[in-house]
Amino acid sequence: MGSSYYGKFRARDKLLDSLHLRGDETVLDVGCGHGLLLIAAAKRLPRGRSIGIDLWSQVDQGNNSREATLENAKLEGVADRVEVRDGDMRKLPFPDASMDAVIANLAIHNISNREGRREAIAEIERVLKPGGQVALMDFKHVGQYAEDLKKDGIADGRASGPIFWIFPPVRVARGRKT
Ligand SMILES: C[S@@+](CC[C@H](N)C(=O)[O-])C[C@H]1O[C@@H](n2cnc3c(N)ncnc32)[C@H](O)[C@@H]1O
Repeated sequence: MGSSYYGKFRARDKLLDSLHLRGDETVLDVGCGHGLLLIAAAKRLPRGRSIGIDLWSQVDQGNNSREATLENAKLEGVADRVEVRDGDMRKLPFPDASMDAVIANLAIHNISNREGRREAIAEIERVLKPGGQVALMDFKHVGQYAEDLKKDGIADGRASGPIFWIFPPVRVARGRKT
């Protein structure tokens, strides 16, 4: 998937800005890959934790591995507050209500079937603390993520309009657990 170099960082920063983090939260990035969101989130969490989870598919990320992502966190000076786990977003290895925010970029669409994406959204909702925020950026199925969030009682579950800084354009499904 192509995207402008700057557009990708701009979209990342806007997504993180929208969370209004205090700096002491625990944030989970599902399908973190090399850590685009994970590491940028860690920079905004001097007293918190940024946790990534991935099953390390090599399809659209070369050299995709926990080690490579941890090395990126080290190079960016945030390894002390980054944790990277192996796992599938359809069965998150985290307790209920353990995350202040769950974020994702270009990850959930990799689950090819509707039911699997539905499971991922349900897992994201499960691990969110009451009051926790969700922001899921993707280039397809975003309306579906927003619909599922809304159906499950996530407050303000909605999809943004298209963001054209990235090609194909992305949208963000977001909401807050009540
Ligand atoms: C296009 S990459 C995006 C990586 C990163 N979020 C970014 O913005 O650069 C998609 C990532 O989702 C991961 N992924 C795909 N299906 C997954 C699943 N079911 N559970 C966890 N991670 C998954 C892939 O291994 C890959 O690292």
